[in-house]
Amino acid sequence: MQKTYVYMLALAVFAAGCSKEKQAEPTKPEPTTVHEFMVERIDPDADAIWAIGNAAISENASIDPALMTDKNWTDLKAAADRMAGHARALENLDPLLAVKPGMKIADEGTEGAPSPAMIQAHLEKDTDVFRALADSLTTHGTDLSAAAAKKDAVTAGRLINEMDGVCESCHLEFWYPEQKELMKKMGLLPE
Ligand code: HEC
Repeated sequence: MQKTYVYMLALAVFAAGCSKEKQAEPTKPEPTTVHEFMVERIDPDADAIWAIGNAAISENASIDPALMTDKNWTDLKAAADRMAGHARALENLDPLLAVKPGMKIADEGTEGAPSPAMIQAHLEKDTDVFRALADSLTTHGTDLSAAAAKKDAVTAGRLINEMDGVCESCHLEFWYPEQKELMKKMGLLPE
């Protein structure tokens, strides 16, 4: 009993620490690596957008305007604006560095998982493609902001649904391209 309690307490502290970290604080210094952009900016922005979208999802997987308050629309627009700004900064990151030395990325050390050196090599090989994909995310954020400003539930719903694909298109090229063939074989990607 005691043990469970201690464990749950540890979990609660851990969760609190996580959510705190997830808040993109404007006072935090501008990220200098793709990894920091992901963890400190892009992922929290996306989570904020998905949280609003998920709470207002209708039966046909689009946004039900009746479930959106004025505050929800304002918050959605603000999160989309943050995303656009952060994606623009990511696009202009120069030098284009994957990870700061000593920082650990997701799954690092797990067998078969990409290493920072592998990601850095992809970034250097196809820098222009990276910038173009970051630009797609900028455009996505800008379009979502415009839809939220107009309270256009159809367009906003579609853009929120499609956002994951924008993330994934870059992850597949620059984070784990080694898995592309495997995913094709598994039928998860078109040949
Ligand atoms: C222009 C390219 C690009 C786009 C667009 C992009 N990412 Fe990433 N992302 C990366 C790269 C490269 C990595 C691998 C480095 C790393 O793990 O930090 C990564 C890693 C991540 C990680 C793992 C971070 C960690 O702990 O290592 C998360 C979470 C993530 N991205 C979320 C997102 C979300 C959500 C979106 C879309 C809203 C997105 N990314 C869009 C390039 C991109």
